[in-house]
Amino acid sequence: MLIRQAHVEDISQLLDIEHYCYDDPWPREAFEEEIGNGVAGIGMVAEDDGIIVGFITGLTMAQELQVHNIAVHPDYQGRGIGRQLMEAVDALGRAGDYKRISLEVRQDNDIACKLYMSLGFKAVGTRKDFYGPGQDASLYTKELTAE
Ligand SMILES: CC(C)(COP(=O)(O)OP(=O)(O)OC[C@H]1O[C@@H](n2cnc3c(N)ncnc32)[C@H](O)[C@@H]1OP(=O)(O)O)[C@@H](O)C(=O)NCCC(=O)NCCS
Repeated sequence: MLIRQAHVEDISQLLDIEHYCYDDPWPREAFEEEIGNGVAGIGMVAEDDGIIVGFITGLTMAQELQVHNIAVHPDYQGRGIGRQLMEAVDALGRAGDYKRISLEVRQDNDIACKLYMSLGFKAVGTRKDFYGPGQDASLYTKELTAE
């Protein structure tokens, strides 16, 4: 499994994964805002034999890395790829001297919440109706300077 930086040319493959993983998928423009965003954008993909099977995207805001999207193709879930993508962003943050990583996750997304907690993230707040009426988000952060 190769973890590498995402390029604008990868977006069509990311859209396929996005559609498999979410009922309310991001449009192409949302990916372009992050992957095509020079130094402010974060974008990494997991590639297996030349095929993209997962991705993580986000933006840098001052001293924080904000993860906005992570998904692994359903056929490849549960093989450690999500963890590797999160670890790649962690390494990026440390190399760039960022203070923390933050992300929002649906409160009922047990698999994702478990992954983030196992990587040292802490739930620090709730965003009510973040994903629509009755669909709250938990805000998770990981301090990069504390370790
Ligand atoms: C969340 C997601 C990115 C995780 O990626 P993944 O490659 O499947 O995860 P990994 O294989 O790296 O597993 C990481 C941890 O997640 C948890 N996990 C993964 N699959 C699981 C499953 N089927 N049941 C329970 N826990 C599971 C485990 O805690 C695992 O840790 P472990 O390796 O110590 O067992 C992936 O499930 C996905 O794309 N889901 C749909 C989109 C989504 O919900 N994204 C998150 C939005 S915030």
